[in-house]
Amino acid sequence: MSTDTHDRLLIIDFGSQVTQLIARRLRELNVYCEIHPYQKVTSEFVREIAPKAIIFSGGPDSVTREGSPRVPQDIFDMDLPILGICYGQQVMMHQLGGKVECGHGTAEFGRAFVQASNKLEILNGWFEDGDEQVWMSHGDHVSEIAPGFEVYGTSPNAPYAITADIERNFFAVQFHPEVHHTPSGAKLYENFVKLAGFSGDWTMGAYREQMIAEIRERVGDKNVICGLSGGVDSSVAAILIHEAIGDQLTCVFVDHGLLRKNESEEVVGMFRDNYNIQLIHADERELFLGELEGQSDPETKRKIIGKLFIDVFQKHADTIDGAEFLAQGTLYPDVIESVSFSGGPSVTIKSHHNVGGLPEKMGLKLVEPLRELFKDEVRALGRELGLPQSFIGRHPFPGPGLAIRCPGEITTEKLDILREADAVYIDQIRKHGLYDEIWQAFVAILPVRTVGVMGDGRTYDFACALRAVTSVDGMTADYYPFTHEFLGETATRIINEVKGINRVTYDITSKPPGTIEWE
Ligand code: XMP
Repeated sequence: MSTDTHDRLLIIDFGSQVTQLIARRLRELNVYCEIHPYQKVTSEFVREIAPKAIIFSGGPDSVTREGSPRVPQDIFDMDLPILGICYGQQVMMHQLGGKVECGHGTAEFGRAFVQASNKLEILNGWFEDGDEQVWMSHGDHVSEIAPGFEVYGTSPNAPYAITADIERNFFAVQFHPEVHHTPSGAKLYENFVKLAGFSGDWTMGAYREQMIAEIRERVGDKNVICGLSGGVDSSVAAILIHEAIGDQLTCVFVDHGLLRKNESEEVVGMFRDNYNIQLIHADERELFLGELEGQSDPETKRKIIGKLFIDVFQKHADTIDGAEFLAQGTLYPDVIESVSFSGGPSVTIKSHHNVGGLPEKMGLKLVEPLRELFKDEVRALGRELGLPQSFIGRHPFPGPGLAIRCPGEITTEKLDILREADAVYIDQIRKHGLYDEIWQAFVAILPVRTVGVMGDGRTYDFACALRAVTSVDGMTADYYPFTHEFLGETATRIINEVKGINRVTYDITSKPPGTIEWE
């Protein structure tokens, strides 16, 4: 199925931080859309991609500034439904003969309440009981609407919060319906695409086909290497790329000795049993653990691990002929803060990513087929690709692995104890049916021994902390409210089953002020 068979919606990006959320709302409605920076959008371009409707995104500029972004004027004569959001609304008004003001009293940031004044098709199912909460984030506001437009909603600081020219199917809102803080905003997109006549036939299956075509075009006959961590993101990326280019892909799975119990076997086994992907299993335990010996500072530990990853990757990449591309499972939340206004979305990899420094140092180009997706969409794509559910639902695991769950000095003794305790804890969580409710759960072994009594004897063993958090994206998190029964049972099991631990604590710190990991 090619994208040509789908109706497409064009999003003109004026540089808003949340433009991708518009795309996400549309994907949820099974509508195919493309985001293009405004600089690229000429009249010819629009005719060429032949959209069925257009959305103008928000953006940080002011239409009152000379030289600020515009759309080609004849877009308004193409007989297409158009929806303008925030800056998009202001551009629309400005170019169609209305007025936009900046200055005192025009700004509005945060939660606001809009009162709808008239019935409007794109508001169906919304504003039925009076005021509705929306999210505003604007410095300027429209002070005079363009000819043909009417007002359908107002807020205290936005007299033209909702406007429309229903003859021409032009709609413009001052707020951001795509963000969660506009709780019913998705309705507006739903009504808009319905009005524009989209059939809603765009699925994850279609996304998969589109990405495969794009990967083939980008990579050509060159080779790609992919760092596999065993997490869902890199696994989905690898499988998708393998579908696209087969043996031109080689995956490298680095065992740094800081993996969880049976992790190496599980990851390598899953790939070898289910996929015919060329896979290098790099056993580098001695190297990593040797270099980490005696190191207790968290940053030093992270830096050593980061550098060794690069060394090991480089070593293996050198053995792969014609490797010109590096595949990464970068997700949209990883790039959301790196949207460059002038050039459209740009590539910046978070430095904490375990292979983040690689492409620059190794002169590799990137292949990132998941960079438009959110975690739950990656899981949906994984399902589409037939990845086992046990793999798709795995909790995130950090690149530096158990090193950052073993505060202070790392020893093989501590790592072995930690692996056992973690396995018991995760087993408990699974047995109680809680695994999927939790974003991430793990044990940290504490750098302290405490006194206990078991049977008739004294013990002097390590203490550990259980961690479990709920989160949407890992940026903020709440500790999971286990029952006392669960905690008691788990502590008993760990102390009975894991030699080396005689005290169990539960970490009830949220993020912020804590972080999810202990280092
Ligand atoms: P923190 O501890 O910063 O973690 O609250 C937030 C999320 O990021 C993961 N994490 C990492 N992932 N490399 C990674 O790939 C890293 O260096 C790293 N540090 C933290 C952490 O597990 C959590 O999901």
